[in-house]
Amino acid sequence: MISPKDVLRKDLRTVSGCLITYAFADNWEKVEHFQSRPDDIVIATYPKSGTTWISEILDMILNDGDIEKCKRDFITVKVPMLEMAVPGLRISGIEQLEKNPSPRLVKTHLPVDLLPKSFLENNCKIIYLARNAKDVAVSFYHFDLMNNLQPLPGTWEEYLEKFLAGNVAYGSWFNHVKSWWKKKEEHPILFLLYEDVKKNPKQEIKKMVRFLEKNLNDEILDKIIYHTSFEMMKDNPLVNYTHLPSTVMDHSKSPFMRKGTAGDWKNYFTVAQNEKFDAIYKKEMSEIELQFCTEI
Ligand code: A3P
Repeated sequence: MISPKDVLRKDLRTVSGCLITYAFADNWEKVEHFQSRPDDIVIATYPKSGTTWISEILDMILNDGDIEKCKRDFITVKVPMLEMAVPGLRISGIEQLEKNPSPRLVKTHLPVDLLPKSFLENNCKIIYLARNAKDVAVSFYHFDLMNNLQPLPGTWEEYLEKFLAGNVAYGSWFNHVKSWWKKKEEHPILFLLYEDVKKNPKQEIKKMVRFLEKNLNDEILDKIIYHTSFEMMKDNPLVNYTHLPSTVMDHSKSPFMRKGTAGDWKNYFTVAQNEKFDAIYKKEMSEIELQFCTEI
C-alpha cells in the first residue's frame, strides 16, 4: 500500500515524453483512455497561469452568477483536475469527474498532444488560458516551495534555469503555449490571456459567456467579476486550496493565492536573468503571432 509519504518531494517522471509530477504518473493509462462527454468543457493551462481563477469564473457562468450554487463545494470537486491522483490520500481527478453532473468542467495542464483523444473526438469545447512566461516562472517557483507533490525548486537562480530548459512539471512553457495556440486552427478553442482578464475582466468574461453559448446580463457579469476578484478568492476557503491537507500544500511556505498580479517577476529577475530570458524567448516564440503583456 502506497502512503502519501512515498510520493512527496520526488523527482518528476517522464510519461509519453512529458515530465509529470511523480504522484500522477501511475495513473497514466486511465488518463489516456479517459472517456469524455460531448458537453464537457476543458480548461487547459500551463501550471500557474490562473487556472483556478477562470475555473471559478466558468463555474459562475454555468450557474448564471448564482453565488450560493457556486458555494456548493470546493474548487477541486467542482472542477477536477484530470490527471490529479495522489495514492494514499484518495485524491483522484478522474473519480471525481465520473461523479460530476454534466456539463462538466475539466481542468488539465496536459500539453496538447497528451490530451485524451476522446475530447477531440467528441469535439468538446476547450478554453486555453496563457500567462506571460516571466510571471509563470515566479509563480511556479513559489508553488514548488509550498506543494510537497513537486520536487523542491532549489534557489530561484537554479529554478529559473530549469524552467527555461523545460525541466519542470509539464515541460517547456514555450512548447505548451505554442502547440495549444496552433491547435486552435483545427479545434474549437477559446484562447485567452491572464493579463487581458486582469485588465478588462468584463470583456474577457463576455468572450467566455459567448463561447459557452450563454446569455448573461450586465448585473450578473458584475457579480461574477466581484466574486472572482483576487481579493475575494484569496479569502475564500472553497477556492484558495487551504482545504487540502498540509502534507500536500504548506501555505506557510507560500500561499497558493500569492499576489495575483502581472509584473511581479520584476521583483525576482536580475538584469542578467532578464536578458537571458528575453533572448531565449525571442528564439522560441518568434514563429507565432502571440504577444504577451508582462506588466499592467
Ligand atoms: P501568483 O503566484 O503570481 O500570485 P493556477 O491557478 O493556474 O495555479 O495559478 C495560480 C496563480 O493565479 C497565482 O499567481 C494566483 O495568485 C493567481 N490567481 C488566483 N486567483 C486569481 C484571481 N482571482 N485574480 C488574479 N490572479 C489570481
